[in-house]
This record gives sequence, C-alpha cells and structure tokens, in this order.
Amino acid sequence: MPLIFNLGCEADLCAKVVRKLNAQEGDLELRHFPDGESYVRVLSDCVDQQVIILCGLDQPNSKLLSLLLVANTLRDLGAARIGLITPYLAYMRQDIRFKDGEGITSRYFAALLSNHVDWLVTVDPHLHRYNHLSEIYSIGTMVAPSAPVLADWIRQRIESPLLIGPDSESEQWVTEVAALAGAPYLILEKTRKGDRNVQVSIPNVEKYTDRVPVLIDDIVSTGHTFIETIKHLKALGMPPPVCMAVHGVFAEGALDGLYEAGAAQVVTCNTITHASNAMDVSSILAQAAQALLDT
Ligand code: R5P
Repeated sequence: MPLIFNLGCEADLCAKVVRKLNAQEGDLELRHFPDGESYVRVLSDCVDQQVIILCGLDQPNSKLLSLLLVANTLRDLGAARIGLITPYLAYMRQDIRFKDGEGITSRYFAALLSNHVDWLVTVDPHLHRYNHLSEIYSIGTMVAPSAPVLADWIRQRIESPLLIGPDSESEQWVTEVAALAGAPYLILEKTRKGDRNVQVSIPNVEKYTDRVPVLIDDIVSTGHTFIETIKHLKALGMPPPVCMAVHGVFAEGALDGLYEAGAAQVVTCNTITHASNAMDVSSILAQAAQALLDT
C-alpha cells in the first residue's frame, strides 16, 4: 500500500487521491525554525515503501525547498521509490532562450526534480515547444489528461457550446475537448506584446452566434488572453462566454478583471486551490499515478 505525504494540497483532493490509489496518508512534521530554516520529521515507517509526495507547484519558489528536503528525508529513511504527484507543474513556459542571456529554466527545474524523485505525475503541463516531458525530465513521467474532465463539465451544463482556443498552443487541448464534448471549435491567433499586453484575432464566427462561447486554455494567469478574446466576442455580438482553464494561476486582480470584461463564468480544475475550482482532477491523477506505481 503506497504512502502519500501531502505537502500543502487541499485536504479533500488528497483524501480522494489516497482513496482512489488505495493508499495510506503518511504522517509528517514540517515546520520552520525561528531563523526560517525548515525542520522535517517523517513519522510514518517508510522503509521499503512506495511513497508519494503530493505537492502542487504553483508559487514554486516557496515550495520547492521543502519538497526536496522531504524527498531526501524519505530516501534517507529507506523509502523504496519516491513519486511526485504535482497537480500543477511550474517552470514549463521558459522553454527556449527568447532573449540573449536568458536561462532556459524549464530545463534546470526539470533536472533538479529528476535528481530527487523517481517519477512524476502532473495534469496537462504547458507543453509548447517540448512535445513530451521526457525531453527535459530524466525520470518516469505521466501526464494526467484534463480533456475528459473539461468535456464532462461542458456536456453536463452547456447545451449548445462553441469551444474557442485563444491561441495555436491551445489547439492540442481544445480539439480533444471538442471531440469528447461533441462540440464545434475555433482556434484564434494571439500576439503577446508583453506580460499584460495580448492581441487576438478571431476568424468569422457568424454561423455560431446562437451558441454559447466556451474559451479554453491550459493556464489563466493575468487573464489578458481571455480578456482580449472576450472583448472581440462582445464586439461581434456573441453572448458572454464561459472561461475554462485547466490551471488557475490567477495573478492579482485577474478573476475580477475577467468578470468585469464580461465573462459569464470562470471555471478551473482543482490543480491549484482557488474559488473558481469546479472540476476535480483526483481520478485522472490517481489513474496516472497507478500506471507508474505498476511499472
Ligand atoms: C500561454 O502560453 C498559455 O497557454 C496561456 O495562454 C497563458 O499563460 C495565459 O496567460 P494570461 O492569463 O496571462 O494571458
């Protein structure tokens, strides 16, 4: 029976993953000394055990060190194999050197994690210029696909949807969700001119004006990709759209900005705890982890 140590994920998500993997929750003491250093004590017997660390990697810089210290402690105490379930995998967007002198941080982060855990499961990472996590991770990896979760949500709540991907990168998710939801889709063209400056162009949508637009992206961060799309849809006389993202990273003020721009609803998966969480990823995480536990 695998032991799951929860480093900060929502208790409900952890309980569901524990149940679906027929696992047991491990006991851990993790706190800070007065000078800010971390104190780690593993209270469960992990000798020769399959152990899993459940740790979301949103706000990664504040979480990474604890994760690495716990992984090292578990290894030191005799764990047989250490897996990481991270519902959101950070440091995937800097996948090339866009400007001279930049670090390709996705690679460095991947190398770091690969040195400390034996396998990794995550929900749809931002794979843009990489096709697969194995291009940067040297450990076993498995992607838990969110498309069935998004498609279920749409099928159960929206009678006549038109799925819209705000840029070419979103095509990989949107086409899959559209096929599973049995809905038409459009992919737009996006030009990003800065962190908060995004332009999108929308092809002819006249034939879909009777449908509810559902914008789908892997990440919503500042919200500007969705906001620009909402503005264009409004100008074209489309009804207020539903905005769906797999991972709600949400920079300060982003959710309010989306509603102010005219979103009918903003929904995300519970890969990052947020008020917009409406879709549960525990089943897909457990399925992917089970596949790696079985290897
Ligand atoms: C971009 O490459 C991603 O797929 C998302 O479109 C992007 O991260 C969304 O960011 P924002 O909400 O800041 O426009």
